[in-house]
Amino acid sequence: VVPEIVLNSGRGMPVLGMGTATYPEPPEQTVFEAVVHAMELGYRHFDSASVYGSERPLGRAISFAIEKGLIGSRDELFITTKLWCTDMHQDHVLPALRHSLEVLGLEYVDLYLIHHPIRLKGEKKMEMSSDDILPVDIPSVWEGMEECQQQGLAKSIGVSNFTCKKIAELLTHAKVLPAVNQVEMHPVWQQGKLREFCQEKGIHISAYSPLGAFGAFWGSNKVLEAEEIKRIAQSLGKSRAQVLTMDQCFLLKNYWIRALRMFQFFGTHHYIVLIRIHFLHGQVCLRWAFQQGVSFVPKSYNKERLKENMEIFDWCLSAEDMEKLSLLPQERFNLAHPLVSPTSFYKTHADYWDGEV
Ligand code: A2P
Repeated sequence: VVPEIVLNSGRGMPVLGMGTATYPEPPEQTVFEAVVHAMELGYRHFDSASVYGSERPLGRAISFAIEKGLIGSRDELFITTKLWCTDMHQDHVLPALRHSLEVLGLEYVDLYLIHHPIRLKGEKKMEMSSDDILPVDIPSVWEGMEECQQQGLAKSIGVSNFTCKKIAELLTHAKVLPAVNQVEMHPVWQQGKLREFCQEKGIHISAYSPLGAFGAFWGSNKVLEAEEIKRIAQSLGKSRAQVLTMDQCFLLKNYWIRALRMFQFFGTHHYIVLIRIHFLHGQVCLRWAFQQGVSFVPKSYNKERLKENMEIFDWCLSAEDMEKLSLLPQERFNLAHPLVSPTSFYKTHADYWDGEV
């Protein structure tokens, strides 16, 4: 069972969610099947956005899961979606959410986030360009978000990619405190200052790219391939001898098992097995995030990895390992490159991220 945290809106949120940010967009059927499989595994929190193209297959998977009895009702799920930059105007917020709800086939989302603190012109697409930047009035967009919550279309509202400075500015106007700030966070970009600031304000931090978004254009393999993370994963791997039935051996197929001897035990075949439990790099990263008290939305459309990413709640990283991870050299991967240029509104990465680079 995935533990829940309680947001400042009073609503519960499972700490582990399935991320669906992918570029280029995979076929809808891939997302649909991965979401259904995730629900079978016990995932109840799904992170989408209007720009990802995952709202439609996610919505289809929810209807399918209810129809097939995989879940009792929609209320058992925690669904997040996000307002894209082309809709960053007070008048567009409610219509944009209504459109997302129509695509999802839902009456409400559990969490609606401002995706980025910027406004862009042109069509809705993942590729951003500094040529498309328009002036933005975030306080009035936030009023639109508050309206979404008042109308019951979003149970909680929040932001994403907001720095300390942008949160502080928003708080001088906001009637409703953002419930969440969803930001890049993993052992190689730990967000210490922002986390402390948000905690002080009662805003929950949710980690996107908790594995470093390997494979995505903003991501890197520097998290999953970090030497310290590999070392911890290896040192956690334990061997133990156990008596198991044949069926139990099959259930443990993801573990490395060496059968030492087969023997008759109360009339059934049993094995004395040496089980070596492998801890995987990804699991170390997600467990690290869990022990930091944040929620996290790793993306995977792979059945084995979806399962691996769930198996992080019955063991823990030692204080010593946490200390070692806290010393990793830091690097932000999502620098918002395309929005930064000497002729743009944002001349440097530090401009865009208010010095948090
Ligand atoms: P895949 O979908 O094939 O599993 P992030 O959540 O940081 O954005 O990372 C997502 C990337 O990491 C995807 O490429 C995903 O690929 C891969 N991934 C997801 N879970 C794991 C895991 N447990 N171990 C290694 N790679 C993973």
